[in-house]
Amino acid sequence: MCGIVGYVGPGQALDVVIEGLRRLEYRGYDSAGVAVVADGAITTRKKAGKLANLEAEIAVDPLPASHIGIGHTRWATHGAPNDVNAHPHVSEDGTIAVIHNGIIENFAPLRDKLIAQGVTLRSQTDTEIVAHLLAQQMISTPDLGDALRAVCQELTGAFTLVVVHASTPNKIVAARRNSPLVVGRGVGENFLASDVAAFISHTRNAIELGQDQVVEMTPEAVVVTDFFGNPVEVKEYEVTWDAAAAEKGGYDLFMLKEIAEQPKAVADTLLGRIDLEGRVTLDDLTLDLDYIKNIDKIIITACGTAYHSGMIAKYAIEHWTRIPCEVELASEFRYRDPILTPTTLVIAISQSGETMDTLMAMRYAREQGAKVLAICNSNGSTIPRESDAVIYTHAGPEIAVASTKAFLTQIVACYLFAMYLAQTRGTGYGEAAGEIALELGRMPSKIDLVLDTSGAVNAIAKKLIDKQSVLFLGRSVGFPVALEGALKLKELAYMHAEGFAAGELKHGPIALIEEGIPVFVVVPPVEDELHDKIVSNIQEVRARGAMTIVLAEEGDESIVEFSDHIIRLPKCPALLQPLVSTVPLQMFSCEMATVKGYDVDQPRNLAKSVTVE
Ligand code: F6R
Repeated sequence: MCGIVGYVGPGQALDVVIEGLRRLEYRGYDSAGVAVVADGAITTRKKAGKLANLEAEIAVDPLPASHIGIGHTRWATHGAPNDVNAHPHVSEDGTIAVIHNGIIENFAPLRDKLIAQGVTLRSQTDTEIVAHLLAQQMISTPDLGDALRAVCQELTGAFTLVVVHASTPNKIVAARRNSPLVVGRGVGENFLASDVAAFISHTRNAIELGQDQVVEMTPEAVVVTDFFGNPVEVKEYEVTWDAAAAEKGGYDLFMLKEIAEQPKAVADTLLGRIDLEGRVTLDDLTLDLDYIKNIDKIIITACGTAYHSGMIAKYAIEHWTRIPCEVELASEFRYRDPILTPTTLVIAISQSGETMDTLMAMRYAREQGAKVLAICNSNGSTIPRESDAVIYTHAGPEIAVASTKAFLTQIVACYLFAMYLAQTRGTGYGEAAGEIALELGRMPSKIDLVLDTSGAVNAIAKKLIDKQSVLFLGRSVGFPVALEGALKLKELAYMHAEGFAAGELKHGPIALIEEGIPVFVVVPPVEDELHDKIVSNIQEVRARGAMTIVLAEEGDESIVEFSDHIIRLPKCPALLQPLVSTVPLQMFSCEMATVKGYDVDQPRNLAKSVTVE
């Protein structure tokens, strides 16, 4: 949450910072602001709402030319999303400007102390106190880096802080605890950001900062220390995608582009991981074979869409490996005293690798002696860095706030791991390995086929625009798909939507069925044991007046007479069906939000990377 950019070098800082903010706006869009240093003074501009508002403000009230600047897009935590609470925040004498991502948990006592000392606070944010604390610290510790290190020792919670000083026109100082921060190394210029996307058009050389580190950055040098000033050795890496991957590439929306990229994302995630005999090879997996053979429990933990992918993975893991598998919302996990032992494997699934709840859950699991495997899409982010092992998904950058291609690749990565486990441990799935591997390899072209249903799906969305509620039903792996369909509709089209396990209908939810209510039903393949049961569920809701939108495989004629609309899915094994059945539901929500006139890529109140608990 919140996007942060910093630039120091020969270029026009404002241009670089605004371009970076544009690429990071998906992280928060409650307000935006910038600060530049020129002629021994700091000048800021900040504005509530989207970046466009800030740009309009700067057009009428330009900033001085400068070669050092910082910028911020905000997802509000402390204080309403207005101009005053927008970042940067400056010290009383105007010499220090600070931007921040995270939550300073001991903000209240620090604020009270400052007020008691006579400091006048202008905003309701936790960030502003850092500007004042720094100003006080610099009286005894005049070096900006030293002052920031000292202030960080006083703070608790999560923070990426980026600071400029009026009398240091060639240096940006930043600190990181629990919130992301990456340095981009250029030639004679350097960049700082929450995400490499911000500077990818300038450099692909990056340095990921670790926990509790401070970076001091000039055009020529990047120096990293811990909070006590001890030097830290950093590892530089090259970003594997380029600026074009973070552009809309001819699509109107990032979400549409990312939906369309799903065949490639799935193919890339499979690439090189299944050999010609159908055996899974996970070369980078750093879990030793003895450990793998002794795993006696798996707990998957994640949030939101990633959690739904974990729910799907559970079916495959238990079926193929016979290892008991639980799935738990990361935000609940560590607060319920879970039973964890050295033979428990916790799988943390996260697109961003920065989700605070998931990070805290996996840290807790490791403290209790369990091992953690991360399934992650963001190279070098915190969750994989702190895990015992990682399987990267290769979805490429996901910019739209609503997760699509990351979801499908998370399922694929979990399935690959489940197959690998079964293969290594010699459990039941062994014989079917070749066949499932082959089928997985065919999924990209099947996903491609589902994309062709967009015309029909969009027409259904237009018909349902005035509906108050939409229900989604599924069974087995179709149940998490139903939950995911409902989540997408809530977050994008702001409609009431619920996903249910179809077998639960008669235990309550059927009371919601009234004349005309749209009910999406995900039907498993014809040969699946649950197929006929869900066809009965379709009849039950139809008999009570529901409008049924049925997702069923090609050739399944049993549903025709009970369906108001049919969306056809390519035939595939039941466990793989989520890779195709989710796609029309993504397209449906995207279109519904579009026809309602909402901002699909940046839905209200949300942010892409949830770096606060
Ligand atoms: C929904 C969505 C969120 C994320 C969740 C976890 O479309 O995107 O529910 O799935 O915030 O995010 P990551 O995967 O980055 O941990």
